[in-house]
Amino acid sequence: MTSALKNKWILITGASSGFGAAAARAFAAEGARLLLGARRVDRLEQVAAESRQAGAAEAHCRGLDVCQTASVDAFLAWARQTITPRQPSDARLDVLINNAGGALGLDTVAQGKDEDWEGMLQSNVLGVLRMTRAALPLMVSNPGSSILNIGSVAGRVAYEGGAAYCAAKAGELMITRALRLELNGTGVRVSTIDPGMAETEFSLVRFKGDADRAHKVYEGTQPLLAQDVADILVWVASRPPHVNIDELLVKSVDQAAIHKVFRRKPKTE
Ligand SMILES: NC(=O)c1ccc[n+]([C@@H]2O[C@H](COP(=O)([O-])OP(=O)(O)OC[C@H]3O[C@@H](n4cnc5c(N)ncnc54)[C@H](OP(=O)(O)O)[C@@H]3O)[C@@H](O)[C@H]2O)c1
Repeated sequence: MTSALKNKWILITGASSGFGAAAARAFAAEGARLLLGARRVDRLEQVAAESRQAGAAEAHCRGLDVCQTASVDAFLAWARQTITPRQPSDARLDVLINNAGGALGLDTVAQGKDEDWEGMLQSNVLGVLRMTRAALPLMVSNPGSSILNIGSVAGRVAYEGGAAYCAAKAGELMITRALRLELNGTGVRVSTIDPGMAETEFSLVRFKGDADRAHKVYEGTQPLLAQDVADILVWVASRPPHVNIDELLVKSVDQAAIHKVFRRKPKTE
């Protein structure tokens, strides 16, 4: 059976690693056409090549910093040109995945650093707003198109050291809800996919390259994998055009709650 996503245009931010890279490969396997953005272009090129191998009808990539309006606008101008080179004004985007973001540090508010707070609010909140504003002209006349925002369980439940990240993801949740109201009647679908703990480069970035500290987050437990989230994104985007998956919260079985993670004891020989 032909996939509902075959030849559809999918734009993924933060496609150089983790959920974004896994989503690129998963949409590729459906025969979709990909527009991939992130700051590390060498990594993006690798993901684009893997996506072509996985079956993408087309896979294109370009540097993108969602924290910079000029970068976002230049990316969307390139996207238009790539989708319809002869008539960029006729370009139609089918799926926008606002995935770029992450956490910086795990400091209490008392110890918090301006650059971490600003970085988290820039990428997770303003990045989603900027990308969506720039992409909407390619979507509003395309009923059944989808905006899939990546939120987090952190946007729903606070934890110590997570004030700014939780605030940012709660912001993403409210943006998603407001946007769904604003777009009512256009046929554009708006969803938030909110994962719990998943093993990606997330903790390595949060702990600024401290691999031991990042590794400890997942020690003894089975977290979600990037592929699990990618499978969900494909499923949400391929529902019939009249179906909107509003909010989807997904956690690993071992994570019953944000503070309750089952960890297996290391085996002693
Ligand atoms: N892993 C988890 O436990 C978890 C749980 C819930 C939600 N999330 C959310 O899921 C999303 C993806 O994270 P991940 O777990 O896949 O982590 P990841 O492996 O670190 O991926 C983050 C991606 O975002 C990109 N990115 C970061 N800042 C950017 C910017 N300013 N402009 C463009 N791209 C940017 C990174 O690319 P470059 O560095 O190359 O720009 C990278 O491709 C994030 O929004 C994160 O908050 C993660």
